[in-house]
Amino acid sequence: MKLEGRKALVTGASGGIGQAIVARLRAEGATVVGTDREGAVDIIGDLTERDFCDTLPARAAEILGGLDILANNAGIITRGKITEATDTDLARTLAINVEAPVRICRATIPIMAAGGGGAIINTASCWGVHPGPDHPLYVMSKAAVASLTQCLGRDHAHQGIRVNAVCPNEVDTPMLRTGFAIRGFDPETAITDLDQTVPLGRIAKPEDIADVVAFLASDDARYMCGALLEVNGGKPVG
Ligand SMILES: NC(=O)c1ccc[n+]([C@@H]2O[C@H](COP(=O)([O-])OP(=O)(O)OC[C@H]3O[C@@H](n4cnc5c(N)ncnc54)[C@H](O)[C@@H]3O)[C@@H](O)[C@H]2O)c1
Repeated sequence: MKLEGRKALVTGASGGIGQAIVARLRAEGATVVGTDREGAVDIIGDLTERDFCDTLPARAAEILGGLDILANNAGIITRGKITEATDTDLARTLAINVEAPVRICRATIPIMAAGGGGAIINTASCWGVHPGPDHPLYVMSKAAVASLTQCLGRDHAHQGIRVNAVCPNEVDTPMLRTGFAIRGFDPETAITDLDQTVPLGRIAKPEDIADVVAFLASDDARYMCGALLEVNGGKPVG
């Protein structure tokens, strides 16, 4: 039980990876407040609302009696070339993928500092480190999350706050499956095909990512600050 007694906030807690993070942190002994815009979570709210983001860490800390771990996991994928992007695509991508984690980190750090430290784990993407094709808004937003992580990892280490990011390649979640469905592919067949492209023989399951988040949250990662951990089964961005 590596996280016995720790208090954690997880965003995107109803999603594929978010559910796995909540389960893994709880299995390690943490008490968790999950938030999402839908689903069976502790706090329902929309990350496009500034006030919601700004007040979320204090609300979670009040419920939990403190805050030691923050997993900024929620995100959306915006597909298509920049010439196809609408103003709404741009605004939503920046609001949910970039502005929300910035606001939530900004509000969390003083709470963690007052409590003697903590761990923030942002979910970036392999594509935020090595740009993939035809998703410029998504890639740019995840590059921002990666950069934010490196900056905060340096700036707040002296307060005992470790900020790191997990950078998955493809993970079998609703985000991936709906993308196949939108493009007219059978998700089951498409995922079997995608499995063949990964040196380890399969794309990630949400638990493969959640285990790395739990590691980064734990004292096993006590000397890690500002790291971008690629979790990719050996598959480089093509
Ligand atoms: N699935 C992949 O292949 C993959 C790869 C790399 C990175 N990621 C990242 O992992 C994270 C989790 O993705 P996932 O695959 O579990 O996706 P998902 O769609 O299953 O889950 C995302 C969750 O975020 C929530 N969310 C989205 N917009 C919100 C808003 N405005 N307010 C509140 N909640 C909101 C959704 O309701 C959903 O439950 C994301 O940041 C994603 O970019 C996923």
